[in-house]
Amino acid sequence: MLEAVLLVGGQGTRLRPLTVTTPKPMLPVAGVPCTEHQIARAREAGVTRVILGTSYKPEVFSEYFGDGSRFGVELVYATEDVPLGTGGAIRHVAPYLESDPDAPILIFNGDVLSGHDIAGQVQRWRDDSADVSLYLTRVDDPRAYGLVPTDADGRVLSFLEKPTTAEEIVTDQINAGCYVFRRSLIDVIPRGRPVSVEREIFPGLLAAGAVVTGFVDDGYWLDLGTPLDFVKGSRDLVTGRAPSPALPGRTGDFLVRPGAEVADDAILTGGTFVGAGATVGSGAVVDGSSLFDGAMIAAGAHVRDSVIGSGAIVGAGAYLDGVVVGDRAVVGPGNELIRGARVWPGVALGETAVRFSSDR
Ligand code: GTP
Repeated sequence: MLEAVLLVGGQGTRLRPLTVTTPKPMLPVAGVPCTEHQIARAREAGVTRVILGTSYKPEVFSEYFGDGSRFGVELVYATEDVPLGTGGAIRHVAPYLESDPDAPILIFNGDVLSGHDIAGQVQRWRDDSADVSLYLTRVDDPRAYGLVPTDADGRVLSFLEKPTTAEEIVTDQINAGCYVFRRSLIDVIPRGRPVSVEREIFPGLLAAGAVVTGFVDDGYWLDLGTPLDFVKGSRDLVTGRAPSPALPGRTGDFLVRPGAEVADDAILTGGTFVGAGATVGSGAVVDGSSLFDGAMIAAGAHVRDSVIGSGAIVGAGAYLDGVVVGDRAVVGPGNELIRGARVWPGVALGETAVRFSSDR
């Protein structure tokens, strides 16, 4: 038996207003919740039992996944009454684990799309007799991430959260949000208070002389933290650049779910996703965007690099670029919204040709 823990209890503030109604890991990425992509990949790597560490809107997960049998795993829910942070959430699932004290436990951040070799990471953890292994990926600009330099044998040297100066950028390896923990180590995380695994547990383990190793893998990796990342993840799944057993064999430039209606002369491109029951009107252009179920793009509208929530309406001739439209919101005809504009769920912008942009 191999057990995995998915940390899915965050508020997802950077993805508001999409996360006002749906927790980030349950937002449909190319029509499938990130959590489902992760469960499918974990299962492929031999995981049979998954514990979901929930806190924010836990019922959304249980209503969708049930006991996990539809997804080929046994699923258990560990819900925090108050959010305990990434480390506190890992400690909170300890009583739900059934593995032996020396067994490996896989732990995933619930908002990461990756193609890394999960089974290979577990095997390396065994080969190294490690206490904890961290999946590391390399990025061009590591400033927004936690840096994790390693020595020639793969032993982690330090943890440097969000470096600011050139001297602090000692490596391009970052914490990619998937760990293998020796089960017994989970029991020693402080209980009943918020704990950060990145800021407190990992540095503490290093200081205590634990064997902490890095598993560098240059396969596909994306953190779905911001709206731009979210549309990128959706695009990459649609075009097959991001691998997911939940969407096998993807190629092509767009994906239209059954029950959607797209006018013959509309243009879908750039990895666009069109959800069930969504409509795209005559002459509309949808480029690199994600239309959730029941969204409506009226004739002649132009939507680029944007997320349009469930049942939201984009009026005729409107122009949207880099925008998030919440569920059931209405963007009236002729409006122009660009660069980070966000329309809250249910809000209606009239037929006023407003031009709104933000630098966020
Ligand atoms: P932002 O508010 O936009 O930063 O998003 P977030 O709340 O998801 O935080 P972050 O991206 O840092 O979280 C990383 C992962 O840990 C996500 O999958 C979260 O769902 C999860 N997570 C964060 N905090 C908690 C918590 O207190 N409890 C649990 N169970 N999971 C958490």
